[in-house]
Amino acid sequence: MTRVFSGIKPTGNVHLGNLLGALVHWVDDQHRADSIYCVVDLHALTVPQDPAELRETTVRLAQLLLAVGLDPEVCTLFVQSHVSAHSELAWLMECTAAFGELSRMTQFKDKSAKSGFVSGGLFTYPALMAADILLYDATHVPVGDDQRQHVELTRDLAERFNARYGATFVIPEATYPRAGARVMDLQDPTSKMSKSEDGAPGTILVLDDPKAIEKKIKRAVTDTEVEVRYDVAAKPGVSNLLSILGAATGRTPDEAAVGYTQYGPLKADTAAAVIELLAPVQARFAELAADPGETQRLLAVGAAKARELADATLARARDQIGLLPPG
Ligand code: AMP
Ligand code: TRP
Repeated sequence: MTRVFSGIKPTGNVHLGNLLGALVHWVDDQHRADSIYCVVDLHALTVPQDPAELRETTVRLAQLLLAVGLDPEVCTLFVQSHVSAHSELAWLMECTAAFGELSRMTQFKDKSAKSGFVSGGLFTYPALMAADILLYDATHVPVGDDQRQHVELTRDLAERFNARYGATFVIPEATYPRAGARVMDLQDPTSKMSKSEDGAPGTILVLDDPKAIEKKIKRAVTDTEVEVRYDVAAKPGVSNLLSILGAATGRTPDEAAVGYTQYGPLKADTAAAVIELLAPVQARFAELAADPGETQRLLAVGAAKARELADATLARARDQIGLLPPG
């Protein structure tokens, strides 16, 4: 059986890169496999958060995932902290991971070098991520390239636990989005589009209004030639527009290039395609945002489904490691 699990952090705003590189695949996968998706709010706590803002961002992200097309009747969508097994199994995983192993995580090295306050959670975060995945006997974990090392660690921890205490966990495998799903920054097309402050000119947010989208794409960096052709090395800006246009209209970037001889029309059509792609998502988001009670209800249903699976795995792990059953 194939079971997919993935998580997304409620920090920053969801952008076109998240949508085309990850979320559209989540929506697809839910019809192909037993799929479980999680808003990983506990992971957001690795850096200090404003409490009201964290609550707000968590609900908004859940609403956005629903708006994009995750169907709670088809997949399981829930908030991580609603299922306490995540925190409990994380401790068992922390005690399974070696200090040296966690010290080698490149994301920890990067992030800790950049921030003033380095929490213990930032260091042990990969053990929590391993718990997220292992609780659901996930076979496949769709993630971006930057999470490769964390999924490798998850496999190592699962294998070590199984070897020490007997078969307990399914060994998961990371899956990566198909090539071409990488959306680059419109102002700096050699770096990935990323979560950044509101109004960043190189990032298109899924909730940007049509005017903002037009403006950002119109100002996108291209090059001094005039030829429209997909060539990432020589023409990163134009190639990025072509891959966005292609992704938004179900074509390859090369197919999307056909018929264009100037940058102006390419930009206008790319903006129109993105606006059209996002319009139904924004409309559904507005409906969900107007009815927070419904979102709460859907998340409670998701958490109940998740809890059932997670509690069973946690009970198995507790038993194998030798924790005394509670009564
Ligand atoms: P992040 O925003 O880094 O938390 O990433 C959430 C998900 O979106 C991960 O699966 C990433 O691989 C994906 N993602 C983030 N940025 C991009 C991008 N610019 N292009 C394609 N996929 C992306
Ligand atoms: N660490 C992931 C990120 O920063 C988010 C995440 C948390 C995750 N737990 C997960 C992804 C489990 C996949 C599976 O993007």
